[in-house]
Amino acid sequence: MIVYLDGSFLPIEDAKISVLDRGFIFGDGVYEVVPVYRRKPFRMAEHLARLQHSLDGIRLANPHPTAEWETIIATLAARQDFDDQAIYFQVTRGVAKRDHAFPKDAAPTVFMMSTPLPTPSAAQFANGVAVVTAEDNRWKRCDLKTISLVGNVLMRQFAADAGAIETVMFRDGYLTEASASNALIVKDGTIVAPPKDHLILPGITYGAAEAFALEAGIPFEIRPIPRAEAYAADEWWLSSSTKEVLAVTTVDGKPFAGGVPGPVFRRMHALFDTHTGRAH
Ligand code: PDD
Repeated sequence: MIVYLDGSFLPIEDAKISVLDRGFIFGDGVYEVVPVYRRKPFRMAEHLARLQHSLDGIRLANPHPTAEWETIIATLAARQDFDDQAIYFQVTRGVAKRDHAFPKDAAPTVFMMSTPLPTPSAAQFANGVAVVTAEDNRWKRCDLKTISLVGNVLMRQFAADAGAIETVMFRDGYLTEASASNALIVKDGTIVAPPKDHLILPGITYGAAEAFALEAGIPFEIRPIPRAEAYAADEWWLSSSTKEVLAVTTVDGKPFAGGVPGPVFRRMHALFDTHTGRAH
């Protein structure tokens, strides 16, 4: 497997970083995951814009202009022997003597790898998936895609321990998102999504769903969603670059919304098929 590290393409076994890298010591860095369908990155401009937002949020200069990122991503994708890929990349504040404050002269570390795109199974698309719920106890800059993911890791493990795929979170009585995906609901044919504020990651797949809904004439509202409204919804969805849009059919061990994916989900799933060109 060929990966990218600080200007070189090399086998993953040869990609080494210092134990003093601030990504390792402090989780001081940001990342992105871009899906690639049939070797074509999906919504790359949006991912690179969000990377800039995350870098600005942690006050780290972007090491590459957009065109350079595009070239590195295209080169890495071309060097894999599979067509549908998940490109993971991260930028950390680099190697420096351990001190919480920013180092004066560290160069950022840039790492990128590609894995086969782990799209959901046909059964998951057809039958929906199980989630559990919890109070959102993460920090209040969830809009930044930082590599400091232990809050999300614990939430995701909470789901795994319960045999569910995600933990859907509520903060102070309002729906936020899930441990590694956004959460959306449908009521009376309208898709409703939480605001893209500091409490959730502005998901690129959420944005894609919004754009596809607009194009297809499906009403899409963005506003805070109280817990009671979420539980009274007709459908719950998860969205992420590796899940696309998935219907939730079990919540906390009980069948939700009839236990089958709803009609609006089926329309949205078909729209993703059309726009990604994903093979079945
Ligand atoms: N996770 N919210 C959280 C907390 C996430 O980790 C993700 C994605 C999303 C969805 O964002 P997008 O649609 O841009 O993928 C929302 C990625 C896939 C990951 O960490 O692997």
